[in-house]
Amino acid sequence: MSSRILRAAMIAGLLVTASCSTGGRRETGEGTKVNKESFGKTADGAAIDIYTLRNKNGVEARIINYGAIVVSIKTPDRQGNLGDVTLGFDSLDGYLGEQPYFGAVVGRYGNRIGKGLFKLGGVEYKLARNNGENHLHGGIKGFDKVVWEANETSVDGAPGVELRYLSKDGEEGYPGNLNTKVTYSLSDNNELRIHYEATTDKTTVVNLTNHTYFNLAGKGDILGHVLTINADRFTPVDGGLIPPGELKSVEGTPFDFRKPTPIGARINDKDEQLERGKGYDHNFVLNRSGEGLTLAARVVEPETGRVVETLTTEPGIQFYTGNFLDGTIRGKGGQVYGPRTGFCLETQHFPDSPNQPDFPSVTLAQGERYDTTTVFRFSVEASR
Ligand code: BGC
Repeated sequence: MSSRILRAAMIAGLLVTASCSTGGRRETGEGTKVNKESFGKTADGAAIDIYTLRNKNGVEARIINYGAIVVSIKTPDRQGNLGDVTLGFDSLDGYLGEQPYFGAVVGRYGNRIGKGLFKLGGVEYKLARNNGENHLHGGIKGFDKVVWEANETSVDGAPGVELRYLSKDGEEGYPGNLNTKVTYSLSDNNELRIHYEATTDKTTVVNLTNHTYFNLAGKGDILGHVLTINADRFTPVDGGLIPPGELKSVEGTPFDFRKPTPIGARINDKDEQLERGKGYDHNFVLNRSGEGLTLAARVVEPETGRVVETLTTEPGIQFYTGNFLDGTIRGKGGQVYGPRTGFCLETQHFPDSPNQPDFPSVTLAQGERYDTTTVFRFSVEASR
């Protein structure tokens, strides 16, 4: 059993606790607010709402109950100008169409499972193969493409929204009814906190993450952003981006981000791993001295001074440089999203863990509770 899974004696109460939904504007304490507005309807007529979380500094995160998607995050630059630091769309249509997981919660298993196959208790499960011969981000209709039930909430006085989704036994090939809850909250310390919880009625695998693409300048490519990743090792991949199991030292490779380094400094180096990913698309093994939230990554955009730090309880982080964005998507304000115009920091268990007994376990049994937290902390760095 992995350390993130806590035995919960009163699981029954966990995910069925009702919370109040008032609609409209709700005070959550100390002047912070959640605002709920309509964001349109799906083709099936399901109502989609957008929840705006705002803190006392004017920092704002907007979330919809389709895909539990983060539509935008506005943070100040060095001059105090608020700007959106995420890729996405101005309206629901963009999110309903083909799109590369902008802002979404991905699950039931974020990242890849080789050939879409794994065994649990001697039974082989066959998942949808939606990425060549492999399974990616939960399958054809993953958690990014479903309607979640949403309620405004507050977390330690911070405005929040909690989203629930029941993934049925057999959905995309996974065993067990999975009761999932994701809670976003925005603190006055400019921390967007994502709390993931799940329980099952049959042993299954779970790996939830958020797929926000960041661009702290709000335009252009992300190659000048300066990145630090708290990882001595990463998991190299095969041609299908599946890790065969090795944990490789980053020392002397373009994957060494232990000191702040521009993302673009080595991205075009002649390196088999970079060639396989068309850039960075790799899981880093986080250095940690114990359980709990640890700093995984820090990114600074030198022109605006904007900073995002990622803290997580997870053992890994997928650093993806938007290599498959091909300029065919027109996003917010008509912007064309070409290769490397956004980066993702997907906190996670390692790819293909169900087939790698030496990787931290992603198995969730009946009576256990999946419970992980990731924080995106925003700030500004003074000019050098
Ligand atoms: C994966 C990429 C994939 C992308 C989809 C990332 O998490 O690692 O390989 O293309 O998601 O947008």
